[in-house]
Amino acid sequence: MSNKQGVSRRRRNLVIATTCAGGAAGAATAVPFVAFMLPSERVKAMGAPVEADISTLAPGQKMTIEWRGQPVWILHRTQEMLAAVEADDGKVADPNSERKPGEITPSYAKNEYRSIKPEYLVVVGICTHLGCSPQDKFQSAKEPFDAEWHGGWYCPCHGALFDLAGRVHKNKPAPDNLKVPPHMYLVDSKILIGEDRKGA
Ligand code: FES
Repeated sequence: MSNKQGVSRRRRNLVIATTCAGGAAGAATAVPFVAFMLPSERVKAMGAPVEADISTLAPGQKMTIEWRGQPVWILHRTQEMLAAVEADDGKVADPNSERKPGEITPSYAKNEYRSIKPEYLVVVGICTHLGCSPQDKFQSAKEPFDAEWHGGWYCPCHGALFDLAGRVHKNKPAPDNLKVPPHMYLVDSKILIGEDRKGA
């Protein structure tokens, strides 16, 4: 079913549902209700940018935002986590994000921490091997995946490991680092995911 057909069907169903629920009064409000609801559904399906409020995201915490049907993770890294990223430079396959320029890592995140601001990492939470969802393994002492595990993510499907900058460890099945989506800061406490206004 095409998206257009899907929208038409949903519109028809919404009109029917609202009319049935509200009788004559419902019929009168059906069109404005549908007119209000459908554009945002359409916009979401097309992958419109979404805002993330990070004002309450404490150091060490991660939040997930849905963008284009994908989970986007925002991790507020502590100083210890940033030090762990530096310590992992020799263990990861593409420490400077040089593979697939512009596709996996936008130019503004092509640095050691893979971020605009060192403390906030923004990545798509989908393994670059076959698309599984890696698990949070931030507590280095309790999750000894290797002799010097500093925390990061573990993909249970085939064992890929990613560090706290989303960089894949060497000799693991995932070919690339976790993708950094287009994003930008609207203000210090708000990140827009899905748009970076290149050149603006
Ligand atoms: S899907 Fe993650 S390692 Fe295979």
